[in-house]
Amino acid sequence: MADQLLKVEDLTISFPSDAGPVGVVRSISFEVGREIVALVGESGSGKSMTGRAVMGLLPRRAEVRAKTLSFDGQELQSLSPAGWNRLRGSGMGLILQDPKFSLNPAHRVGRQVEEALLLHTKLSAAERREQALEMLEKVGLPDPQRVYASYPAALSGGMGQRVMIASMLINRPKLIIADEPTSALDRGLQDQILTLLRSLTEAFGMSLLLISHDLQQVSRYADRVLVMRHGEIVDRLGASALADAQSPYTRALWAARPSAATYGTHLPTLDTEEQTS
Ligand SMILES: Nc1ncnc2c1ncn2[C@@H]1O[C@H](COP(=O)(O)OP(=O)(O)OP(=O)(O)O)[C@@H](O)[C@H]1O
Ligand SMILES: [Mg+2]
Repeated sequence: MADQLLKVEDLTISFPSDAGPVGVVRSISFEVGREIVALVGESGSGKSMTGRAVMGLLPRRAEVRAKTLSFDGQELQSLSPAGWNRLRGSGMGLILQDPKFSLNPAHRVGRQVEEALLLHTKLSAAERREQALEMLEKVGLPDPQRVYASYPAALSGGMGQRVMIASMLINRPKLIIADEPTSALDRGLQDQILTLLRSLTEAFGMSLLLISHDLQQVSRYADRVLVMRHGEIVDRLGASALADAQSPYTRALWAARPSAATYGTHLPTLDTEEQTS
């Protein structure tokens, strides 16, 4: 189907071990069109590996096989390194959990937001600056001029994640993969960032693959949900059907929402000092 931007058919990922290859993703198939598809499942179920395979960012030791792994009609498995660079710079963007590890502390925000324009367009410095400022405003940052000139250390976690989103969106990618994009933020900020991602996805006509382990949160932002377990997709349903899921595993995950008391306890990078974005 032409409007299925991302097509994954029989994707298998394994790692070599002394006891032979260990499959971490086992023959999964799914498609993503202009919509928000959530990939959920417990820790270790293969969500991140799936997202990384789509971006061509798997660890070197990983062995990947797929019948189809295509983006915008182009088969990714035969892509050259230069082709991957082009695609990651303009067709797809990846947003990770913690902006602290994604932003370079040594460079001002403006330079980082503009980087994709520098690498993949012929815009002048003034044009790049103008677009970066516009994008910083679109992601809801107050005083874009000041943020533009700041270093990442001066930003709160919520602001940092908005900057990350701005730097991903500046080249107008068609697909964003967001891997637990809000796990390092407190609850109020999580909803703000997910609301922002949802509205930008719609405004720019993009596709979003949202990786999360929080089903209740996902149910408010995604259109469709794929549930992974032990490397397989074990359930597929509309986000609005999550609360009444038939599959016992999906029901268990739905009920297992981390409570305020336990939330984030497994996340060593949890940043609790800031409340504002
Ligand atoms: N470099 C590696 N070598 C061997 N096994 C790995 C490697 N990286 C990940 N794995 C294994 O692959 C499996 C899937 O990992 P993945 O990171 O995709 O899980 P996940 O669903 O994203 O989990 P989480 O919710 O904790 O982020 C895990 O069992 C993990 O131990
Ligand atoms: Mg993961």
